[in-house]
Amino acid sequence: MARVKAAVLISGRGSNLKALIDACAAPGFPAEIALVLSNRAEAAGLDYARAAGIAHVVIDHRQFPDREAFDAAIGAAVEAAGAQLICLAGFMRLLGPVFTEQWRDRILNIHPSLLPAFRGLDTHARVLAAGVRFTGCTVHFVRPAMDDGPIIVQAAVPVQPDDDEQRLAQRVLSVEHRIFPLALGWAASGRLRVDGNHVIVDGCQEPEGVFINPAA
Ligand code: GAR
Repeated sequence: MARVKAAVLISGRGSNLKALIDACAAPGFPAEIALVLSNRAEAAGLDYARAAGIAHVVIDHRQFPDREAFDAAIGAAVEAAGAQLICLAGFMRLLGPVFTEQWRDRILNIHPSLLPAFRGLDTHARVLAAGVRFTGCTVHFVRPAMDDGPIIVQAAVPVQPDDDEQRLAQRVLSVEHRIFPLALGWAASGRLRVDGNHVIVDGCQEPEGVFINPAA
């Protein structure tokens, strides 16, 4: 069976990229990574692409006069690689409305909170400051606003009394590495349909991936 080609966009460490690379290496996984694109040449995650022999490119946003020109360059690279899906794996640039409309329901983003709570940066510090008992992570289809769009899958992670930012981030990250491949697999096998704000997985509003994970 032909696998769906995905492009993975990163800005830094790339641990979610690594989780996607590992998932794609499993026999029968419905997607393959055709391109890794970073907006920063020094992104450590590029090493995962090199090690796996995956085509990779740096498109530095600072080289472009505006967001639209940067987005167009990304679109051209992704299309040249034949990708049909885009995964934002710690890609810290906003994509504009023209691009997100062109790729509507074909861009997946991961964010380390239970959206729509705690969008944006410094998520774990704000979670701790707010005193919430649960946090987690979300994979969603991308809309122009930051960390916004129909939710594909979420996993909850309890906040422990002795958590600091780093400990909490690490526990959430290990769950991110499980749900991003899950969501990519669903998208690549055509199991997802978007109805307004809702993502329907195989016609069911409660897919198996929506789980609370107290052991994480
Ligand atoms: C991840 O925690 C991801 O959820 C977050 O950046 C980190 C990237 O780590 N993304 C966002 O905050 C998007 N708003 P990684 O480079 O090791 O995958």
